[in-house]
Amino acid sequence: MTMALSALAKKLAAEGVDVVTLTAGEPDFPTPFHIKQAAIQAIEDNHTRYTVNAGIPELRKAIADKFRKDNNLSFDPSQILVSNGAKHSIYNSLKAICNKGDEVIIPAPYWVTYPEMVRLVDGTPVFIQTTEANDFKMTPAQLKRVITKKTKALLFCSPCNPTGTVYTQEEIEELAQVVSKADLYVISDEIYEKVIYDGTKHFSMGSIPSVKEHVITVNGVSKAFSMTGWRIGYLGATKDIVTAAEKVQSQMTSNASSISQHAALAALTGSNDEVNTMNAEFLRRRDFIYKAITSIKGITCMKPEGAFYVFPNVSAYVGKKVNGTTLKSGDDIATFLLNEERVVVVPGSGFGAKDHVRISYACSMEELEKAAERMRRGFARL
Ligand SMILES: Cc1ncc(COP(=O)(O)O)c(C=O)c1O
Repeated sequence: MTMALSALAKKLAAEGVDVVTLTAGEPDFPTPFHIKQAAIQAIEDNHTRYTVNAGIPELRKAIADKFRKDNNLSFDPSQILVSNGAKHSIYNSLKAICNKGDEVIIPAPYWVTYPEMVRLVDGTPVFIQTTEANDFKMTPAQLKRVITKKTKALLFCSPCNPTGTVYTQEEIEELAQVVSKADLYVISDEIYEKVIYDGTKHFSMGSIPSVKEHVITVNGVSKAFSMTGWRIGYLGATKDIVTAAEKVQSQMTSNASSISQHAALAALTGSNDEVNTMNAEFLRRRDFIYKAITSIKGITCMKPEGAFYVFPNVSAYVGKKVNGTTLKSGDDIATFLLNEERVVVVPGSGFGAKDHVRISYACSMEELEKAAERMRRGFARL
């Protein structure tokens, strides 16, 4: 559905139709100057060969330092594996821990990739349906209820794509008690750690002593530093897990790009000024689009505390008719917005939430304003 909508949007744009696309899963800013310079320097210095599979020692040390400073996680650099994006880190983790038939718990709404990755390693995704009323947070009771003898891991994401939900320290501590009792692994996807608002604090589950041996902490430079194309992600975990994940990576891709590793080193050790500027702009856009979307009659929306998406519930418009056809789902509403108003949003069904659509605000304020006006008009017609 998502692919079909984006293909249609691209076709329309190529035909010269003025389409506003709110589907981006990546910051729209250039990579900060000093990071690009570090990559250019890496080429000049001939850092252009295979590196150690797990990543260059300077970068693994910088990541261990970052984990210690930002997340209260204590890893030796040998417990760090640098990969081709956080996506690759998650796959390596799942492949390292899962056997055929193992169950992996995924709270819904989820990032579209999680269930497919679990299936790719012959595991079975098990979903927990969270609710908008509870800010899309899974409760310890919900977690406890789905655990079986086959459960191997929990895939946990905070700040969350697509909802923007950020769990508090207390909430994570309560979930950790369940994890510890059931002896599960947790893959903690913290890729949106730095894109966070309103003084909300990010907390890493791996910093809790009772579960630290069970948590694989995944992060990367894509979202925080606007470096999606550079493909650098990383994980920190116990030596056993890192060794297994490293073997998987060694046979599939070998090291992540040598040049990108040098760029990531500059990102993690350099100034955060540009990151702060990007976040200030994301905040301004979040406030704008959140206000615009919640002022549309019938639409409800949790105010996201992190990431760069709003995830409104459009079910009030399911059942409405347009040109004689009934809109049966959030997917139909997304199609309606594209066909009638030339605004592209991602239908929620791919994220396990059919009453919702995902709107990315990783685009210019001008585009957001245009989209808001068109959506206001479109929903008013319904
Ligand atoms: C929740 C989540 N995790 C991981 C990733 C992957 O990021 P990377 O570019 O580092 O592979 C994304 C990218 O969209 C994401 O939304």
